[in-house]
Amino acid sequence: MTTLFTVTEENLETGLRGIPVGYCRTSSVDPQKGLFYCGHPIAELAGWPSEKVIYLLQTGKEGTAAEIEHFTDQLKEHANLSDAVISHIFNLPREGHPMDLFSAAILIVKMFEGTGDYQKDCLNLIAKIPLIAACVINHHSGWEKGIDSDPSLGYMENFSRMVKVPNCNQEQLGDVLKLFNILHYDHGGGNLSAFVGKCVASGLQDLYGSVAAAMSALAGPRHGLANQLTLNFLQRMQADLAGDLTEKGVRSALEKMVEKKELIYGFGHAVLRVEDPRATVQYALAKEKFSDNSLVQLALLVRQVGPQVLQEKLHVACPYPNVDAISGSLLTAAGFAYPEYYTVLFGVSRSVGIALQVVYERLLARGGKGTPIVRPKYIYRP
Ligand code: MLT
Repeated sequence: MTTLFTVTEENLETGLRGIPVGYCRTSSVDPQKGLFYCGHPIAELAGWPSEKVIYLLQTGKEGTAAEIEHFTDQLKEHANLSDAVISHIFNLPREGHPMDLFSAAILIVKMFEGTGDYQKDCLNLIAKIPLIAACVINHHSGWEKGIDSDPSLGYMENFSRMVKVPNCNQEQLGDVLKLFNILHYDHGGGNLSAFVGKCVASGLQDLYGSVAAAMSALAGPRHGLANQLTLNFLQRMQADLAGDLTEKGVRSALEKMVEKKELIYGFGHAVLRVEDPRATVQYALAKEKFSDNSLVQLALLVRQVGPQVLQEKLHVACPYPNVDAISGSLLTAAGFAYPEYYTVLFGVSRSVGIALQVVYERLLARGGKGTPIVRPKYIYRP
């Protein structure tokens, strides 16, 4: 038996940081190289069709043209929701954060369409999640009272069309949403939402219930909600700078925030020790397509100056931009200037990786027996 890790007292109350607890077949996160889906660096996959990337995550293989076509057809076939489900989603209260509606909507699908079979529910959930999210967003925002789905358009193409973002350039936004979706499918086995989903499933909760719980985990400010908060942070900074979009102005603003012990959003990561490659890919697109957008210009300056300030003033382990540092500015520049929906967009994507990881742990792990119910030990200390 190989010893992978020895737990000492220092490891207690550290959020299980660095402690191996299982296997992940879909993706891995290297502190120096970042995210890989089934061995492929994320930057390599950014231009692939969404369906091909999901197929890779599901099977570990690139797939032949015929295999991808068959899988794409399966997604289309299972993409719809019953009228009852759609009407219940459109009757949810609009008071809460959209992520509350999103988790609730997944539970509504479970009530009406859940099969209790992890494998079937996994395919169904992956196929339906864009429609579930589009209903939630159109309803919560009041942009549209109904939904107009056409799965034949393609996985993300249909999603960008269903979400009725007012006055946006459809094609431009479609490209950004597709990239955003591919970059957020999975981030190793130990990110909070994936871990929560698998923990809940270990008690034999079904796939929808487990993913709904995972979405509640994703909705926390230290996890998925950080993309919304980072955009809010950049917008506040933009207002404070009042047009002073210079390296000097940004440095001084960041230094003041650090002195006041305010959080610099979009920087640092529990595992990564370099700039998150998911951010690098988005910075490249932002520079290419939206370099005259002032929010993008600010995000690029913060990318440049932030690591120096964080290193000099706080000596943090990872002073580099993470995936949230630019995603909100990119979406805003592309016409989706509604940050309260950014975590739902994250959820549409992350549900894919979580569903696949749940299927592995329930049906394939330990020679098909599945992992037992999660039950770590806590030491009694009154
Ligand atoms: C994620 O994508 O889940 C975040 O980067 C957080 C993490 O990996 O722990």
